[in-house]
Amino acid sequence: MRKEEIILKTGEEIETMRRSSLIVAEILLLLKDKVKPGITTLDLDRTAEEETRKRKARPAFKGYRSYPYCLCTSVNDQVVHGMPSKRALKDGDILSIDFGVLYEGFYGDSAITVPVGAVTGDAMRLINTTAASLDRAIEAARVGNRLMDISYAVQKYVEAEGFSVVREFVGHGIGRELHEPPQVPNFGGPGRGLRLKAGMVLAIEPMINMGQSGVRILDDGWTAVTADGSLSAHFEHTVAITEKGPYVLTRA
Ligand code: MF3
Ligand code: CO
Repeated sequence: MRKEEIILKTGEEIETMRRSSLIVAEILLLLKDKVKPGITTLDLDRTAEEETRKRKARPAFKGYRSYPYCLCTSVNDQVVHGMPSKRALKDGDILSIDFGVLYEGFYGDSAITVPVGAVTGDAMRLINTTAASLDRAIEAARVGNRLMDISYAVQKYVEAEGFSVVREFVGHGIGRELHEPPQVPNFGGPGRGLRLKAGMVLAIEPMINMGQSGVRILDDGWTAVTADGSLSAHFEHTVAITEKGPYVLTRA
């Protein structure tokens, strides 16, 4: 983990980040509504781009390390960084949509996982458990707690449900850069890591597998898939730590 200084945000900067994060939240809701059997992930990417431009924001991922799309769309065993394509979604798939924008100099970053049509009970339980693990992580994002209290909240909850936490990808600080220190793992012992302070803004993003935790990267150089082919879910919020508690900037 890189030891680098964490950039604290003022109250005013947090309100600016709220505006960029709300754009992300709104567009994710629009996209969620469009997810149906037959639609392609490239269709979703086009919608995201149009809606972003309409709001005078910039897509955060497009051009980041030469990534060519606005969205990461990860289907079924794809964990993160799935690329939009002409692949049509099918009834029973699960789709994670990860999206960020740059607006007024600040980034917002969020992800959701949604069922396509009717999915199995186990797939729905994976989605709901991943979402609930993020809620628990957010609850731990409080002044005076330590960074790994967030990590532990995810790991403890998810493993008790019989699922596994991806180790290779982590959450991150966010602000004028998409990725700032610190890294925010979704596993770790409680009471460890740096002390959380008001003004820290973190993108917390549990990636949870139904089977084993291992992942591998496809030949496209981006798409991460589960090593065992099991389903994977991902949720993310941009969260400011304030004296009054966690402020979920990407909550609509
Ligand atoms: N939400 C992801 C992250 O925070 C998306 C970045 S991947 C990109 O790391 F390269 F596509 F931008
Ligand atoms: Co992120």
